[in-house]
Amino acid sequence: MVTDFSATDAPALNGMIGASSAMREVFDMTCRVANSTATVLLQGETGTGKELVARAVHELSPRRTGPFIRVNCGALSETLLESELFGHVKGAFTSAVENRTGRFEAAHGGSIFLDEINSLSYTLQVKLLRVLQEHEFERVGDTRTINVDCRVIAATNRDLAELADEGKFREDLYYRLNVVPIYLPPLRSHPEDIPALVEHFLRKYAEENGRTVTGASQEAIGFLKAYSWPGNVRELENYVERAVVLATGDSIGADLLPPHVRGEAPIRVGRAGKDDLESLCSDLVGRELRESASDGNAYARVMGLVERELILQVLRMCQGTQTKTASRLGINRNTLHKKIEEHGLQKDAR
Ligand SMILES: Nc1ncnc2c1ncn2[C@@H]1O[C@H](COP(=O)(O)OP(=O)(O)O)[C@@H](O)[C@H]1O
Ligand SMILES: [Mg+2]
Repeated sequence: MVTDFSATDAPALNGMIGASSAMREVFDMTCRVANSTATVLLQGETGTGKELVARAVHELSPRRTGPFIRVNCGALSETLLESELFGHVKGAFTSAVENRTGRFEAAHGGSIFLDEINSLSYTLQVKLLRVLQEHEFERVGDTRTINVDCRVIAATNRDLAELADEGKFREDLYYRLNVVPIYLPPLRSHPEDIPALVEHFLRKYAEENGRTVTGASQEAIGFLKAYSWPGNVRELENYVERAVVLATGDSIGADLLPPHVRGEAPIRVGRAGKDDLESLCSDLVGRELRESASDGNAYARVMGLVERELILQVLRMCQGTQTKTASRLGINRNTLHKKIEEHGLQKDAR
């Protein structure tokens, strides 16, 4: 059975998908805070949509006509980050061959998004606190004070309160940033949003790749809902893109998902290359020849082992459904039933 997405009608915030109560709360908070000048702190694991929310806060605010500037505080060394944020004057340090405007100045009249704020050094934390409180700073190597009017949106994938408790993040800065916290839930906590997210990414990548993929099988959606998503929505997006590229029909089946998402053992029946099959067979043959007495029954026993492995793998792929397994294997249901008993696979079947 294939899920047809045409009837799905999930509310979207600035291109964001989610109808679960956790995501509705995120959207609600985003809309309410956008209209103010308050500092926003976005907390959540990687790939949960922090950057999308940051952009939405800017786009829905009266500053939308101003610039939106993003700085990844985790990507630069302390010295480079300081001059990136605040600018420098010629001669401030060896490579400062001319004056440079920092990102805070560039964000004047708009918003600055400080991503991975948890990696900010102590010195820069002090400087940022002053910008938040006094709206002023000096360029590196300069004495002239610059005033800026920009809204700060910060993001962290670590618990800042915990870092503050451990003395790794200034408590005063934490309180100053945490005026309006928005918590982005991990995807595993709202799997009910997965079908709509899949639809969204299917449309996006089908269009980008000139494909006509329009749906995903119930089985595929089942696996996606059960998976633990350490990389959250970003990881889901990658798998949907991959499936769209590999799809030959107009629907995504479970076979197009990576094996770990399908909860499958490492042997990939049906997609195994010649080498995989060869090594599987030689393992089984080796085991047989080593372990059993030479009673002249090797053929039946090796074929039995291969048969058992094949049935087990396909049963797992089909989540234990015997009808599906039989049709996938191309054998009759009664035959499969007998084989399941013969090989002691009852607990893998339903
Ligand atoms: N609710 C959502 N709806 C649609 N796309 C999303 C959603 N959340 C995240 N994404 C997508 O997932 C990817 C990662 O999101 P991003 O905002 O960069 O996450 P983070 O900054 O938390 O690591 C992006 O491509 C983004 O467009
Ligand atoms: Mg990010």
